[in-house]
Amino acid sequence: MATTTKSKTTSSAKTTGSTKAAPKKSSKSASGKMEDSEFHEFFIDELKDIYWAEKHLVKALPKMQKAATSPELAAAFEKHTQETQTHIDTLEQVFALLDEKASAKKCDAMEGLLEEANGIIEDTDSGTMVRDAGLILAAQKVEHYEIATYGTLKVFAENMGHTDVAELLGQTLENEKATDVALTECSVNFVNQAAAQE
Ligand SMILES: [Fe+2]
Ligand SMILES: [Fe+2]
Repeated sequence: MATTTKSKTTSSAKTTGSTKAAPKKSSKSASGKMEDSEFHEFFIDELKDIYWAEKHLVKALPKMQKAATSPELAAAFEKHTQETQTHIDTLEQVFALLDEKASAKKCDAMEGLLEEANGIIEDTDSGTMVRDAGLILAAQKVEHYEIATYGTLKVFAENMGHTDVAELLGQTLENEKATDVALTECSVNFVNQAAAQE
């Protein structure tokens, strides 16, 4: 039995003779203001998410510093605690530039990553280099989460024309990347080898 097939309609969408450009799709709302668009609202929500993440990280890093075996890793955590406070201050500047109140919205990802860091501390013995190898793993997962977040938010800000905001987010992004490199150096230079010999 033959099946019925719909005849294809040929598209003849090309219009000729019109010099008027078709209206460009933008993320602006009916009011025409970018600030009222859903995309902008989403952007603000994600800034609140990373704000929550940074505020919790700044409290967790001293715990990781205390748990570290090697003074080098402890110093790296101490340095990044101060830098994380700067990231919080920078986000507050971002909210001010966008005329938004700086408020935090729970970040499930950071909550999970910090829970994992706690688990690593519980599962490893203090005074060992395996502890440090584990702490570096936990910290690098956090850094990569931050790098992904700031990278995306910076591009959002650029696309929305918030050049000043994009620049601030870019500064934090570069600092997160540098932290990730410093942690890799710790593990490559001495931690992993010492951990393997325990
Ligand atoms: Fe950060
Ligand atoms: Fe960080």
